[in-house]
Amino acid sequence: MSDDSRPSRTESRTALRTAAVIPAAGRGVRLGPGAPKALRALNGTPMLIHAVRALAASRAVSLVVVVAPPDGAPEVKSLLDAHALPDRTDFLVVPGGESRQESVKLGLDALPPDYDIVLVHDAARPLVPVDTVDAVIQAVREGAPAVVPALPLADTVKEVEPAATPGDPEPVVATPERARLRAVQTPQGFDRTTLVRAHETVTDNVTDDASMVEQLGEQVVVVPGHEEAFKVTRPLDLVLAEAVLARRRLNDGF
Ligand code: CTP
Ligand code: MG
Repeated sequence: MSDDSRPSRTESRTALRTAAVIPAAGRGVRLGPGAPKALRALNGTPMLIHAVRALAASRAVSLVVVVAPPDGAPEVKSLLDAHALPDRTDFLVVPGGESRQESVKLGLDALPPDYDIVLVHDAARPLVPVDTVDAVIQAVREGAPAVVPALPLADTVKEVEPAATPGDPEPVVATPERARLRAVQTPQGFDRTTLVRAHETVTDNVTDDASMVEQLGEQVVVVPGHEEAFKVTRPLDLVLAEAVLARRRLNDGF
């Protein structure tokens, strides 16, 4: 390679390589009985395949690591083989763990050395638009160690003293000012070293990766999320996801 064809310093900075880890090892208890949530179909295609395509749609993402249900790695590998995915993207499948946190850690452990930016994306958010993915990557490239897509809340939120028996009245403790609250989504984007350090240091149970980085005392920033990046959690969410897919199909002229 001649010197002329080497990327300039600016180009190589923006060419920091990005991998996505997709935790898909959960059972989906809140969705009700059936296959593991990530393997359930949305308009005929497994939720996980929608999620993988959503991340691989970003030209910046060159590797996707899927964290499969603990005994489901062979099944997930054959699903990836059976569905059309971009040629420019590499794929790895690893078995997951008991908690989401453990599953993400197992995905991080499988990352090859030459990736500097890591996205963590729930398989349960199959419809995230590529613009949201790219906005998160862009903010990490611009220097934020941790970036979270988020939306303002529609509902007012109360902090309560949780009842010992579900269904009992619960005393309200506080009402945080709604305008200052955000509901966070994925993909969450990280400087790889920061995220790995967070997973090695923080042992508390957390519900997102960014809060581990917060516990390290590092700055986490929020960028605008998207309505379609909602998490498929309960049965009604399946109805919404299939409606969004049907609308997209109409708009795409299929
Ligand atoms: N996840 C995982 N490993 C676990 C638990 C969760 O990889 N041990 C993943 C899920 O597959 C999902 C994401 O983390 O893509 C977000 O979790 P959640 O929506 O809670 O999914 P589940 O844990 O599967 O659902 P539930 O809590 O209703 O059982
Ligand atoms: Mg869960």
